[in-house]
Amino acid sequence: MAEYTLVADRTGELRMEAADKEERYAGLMDQLQSALAGEPDLTAAMATMACLLHNAFPYYFWTGFYRRVGPTRLLVGPYQGTMGCLSIDFARGVCGAAATRRETMLVPDVHAFPGHIACDSLSASEIVVPVLDARGELIAVLDVDSTIPAAFDETDQRWLERMVALLAEKEALPVVWRG
Ligand code: SME
Repeated sequence: MAEYTLVADRTGELRMEAADKEERYAGLMDQLQSALAGEPDLTAAMATMACLLHNAFPYYFWTGFYRRVGPTRLLVGPYQGTMGCLSIDFARGVCGAAATRRETMLVPDVHAFPGHIACDSLSASEIVVPVLDARGELIAVLDVDSTIPAAFDETDQRWLERMVALLAEKEALPVVWRG
């Protein structure tokens, strides 16, 4: 597995060019597919995806999932980064907008987004991708924040949408087994 730092790439830059993103996402997709193959558990898959993504891209600052736990309620799931908000209603923030519309939200400037939830004031831009199950029901959103403005583009969107599709067939197994 290639080594990447969490804070800056080898060049010291956080921002990546589209061609470099493309190559890194393609490699990561292969890695994810083999890591998740044969593992039915949704939480294990989300945790693995959050970890691999977070460690592969220098401009990722907060990387994780909010699970749908009610008709209009999202609750934090597996993530990497600083402490995230625990509960988000569909009526609030970028995550709520992505969940309500069931479409990816690309937000180049979070401060310009009405109702943005500032879990960490360092966040400057973000992308939120809806996660659907095999029946097309919304089960979660993938939220990625960056400390740099306009960090995410259509390359991120295309690959993240492909990656979350790997979760569609996973099952929500019991969190723990109590015999
Ligand atoms: N950015 C989100 C809130 C969650 S945190 O950033 C981890 C939003 O406004 O929906």
